[in-house]
Amino acid sequence: MSRDAIAKTEEDKGRIGFKVIRNDHTIENLKYLLELRTIFGCQLPKMPKEYITRLVFDTKHRSLLGFKNKMLVGGITFRPFGNVFAEIAFLAITGNEQVKGYGTRLMNHLKQYCQSIGIFRFLTYADNYAIGYFKKQGFTKTITLPEHEYKGYIKDYDGGTLMECVFRPKIDYLNIPGLIKKQRAAIFDKIKEISNSHIVHKGLDNAKRAKLKRIEDIPGIKDTMHKWKPKTISPDVLLPKLRRVYNIMKHHPDSWPFLEPVDGTQVIDYYEVIKEPIDMQVIEQRLKNGFYRTHHIFMADFRRMFDNCRIYNKPDTEYYKCAENMEARFKEEMLKVEQELKDEMKL
Ligand code: ACO
Repeated sequence: MSRDAIAKTEEDKGRIGFKVIRNDHTIENLKYLLELRTIFGCQLPKMPKEYITRLVFDTKHRSLLGFKNKMLVGGITFRPFGNVFAEIAFLAITGNEQVKGYGTRLMNHLKQYCQSIGIFRFLTYADNYAIGYFKKQGFTKTITLPEHEYKGYIKDYDGGTLMECVFRPKIDYLNIPGLIKKQRAAIFDKIKEISNSHIVHKGLDNAKRAKLKRIEDIPGIKDTMHKWKPKTISPDVLLPKLRRVYNIMKHHPDSWPFLEPVDGTQVIDYYEVIKEPIDMQVIEQRLKNGFYRTHHIFMADFRRMFDNCRIYNKPDTEYYKCAENMEARFKEEMLKVEQELKDEMKL
């Protein structure tokens, strides 16, 4: 569970709480502001105490307080500027409660509060040691608010970096885990529309395992194999089509260089250059043996035959041209075969 989620659980159980106050001169609020000033004084040692006191008790500033078991553990002092932005003047969590998620909860409560008063932007001079924390709360060093909207309103601070956070009116910052859960659910619903990976089929029980003969006897396999098992075409259908193409190629006027194996006694270095020779006699033999279970292997053999020819012979030779012409015709014929096979599969 993330620190934010733990802190949310604590909040739900009433162990932690938050409220926004201002200096309205009531004893109760003055007491809280005094306590908050002490936390800021300890946690921001470089900041002059008088300056902290002045801003915390300034009536234009407001402070968000964070409590754990009714004890103040930290807070944020901020000042809204109309509906344009809120400046975060100070922010701190008491030493022994830091890095437990309270800083994040405080910031989320401040976003929620500012949403309620129509403000959707923070500016702050972040202490350089706290830049990492601010980045995790959605702050960036890029300021999108035009300078004239904030220059002169917020006080420059030497030891810090000006950062901005723009937040959204519709996001429930107090329920980020719930929001992420909903987004996950929405993504999974979308995935379900195009995938069936969420469907779990019944497995095989142990009693039947020993008797298992065919893979189709496993229940999940039986139910789904029509989707994933490639349809095989029977050799009685496939081979006549391949033979037809073979005969067309055999009687092609440019088939003569391919009809027999190259004679190594005439073409001395042929078998040094061509390591996987093939010719139409080999292909014919393979057709007779029923070697071709798919048309892809048949096509691969022809392709190798043409490639070998183009590797050994230069493009301006007659052999090379024969390979080009033969291949063009072969592709034409195989397109017809592929269409015929597709039609067969549909039946
Ligand atoms: N630098 C980098 N990352 C930090 C820092 C830091 N100083 N402090 C907390 N983080 C990270 C945490 O590791 C956590 O990361 P995770 O979500 O990946 O695990 C994330 O920020 C949120 O941490 P929280 O536990 O919610 O933060 P915490 O309760 O400690 O509050 C705060 C952060 C307010 C900065 C606190 O550490 C603190 O009081 N520090 C000393 C005072 C200070 O530096 N205040 C800010 C000065 S700038 C100003 O006031 C405008």
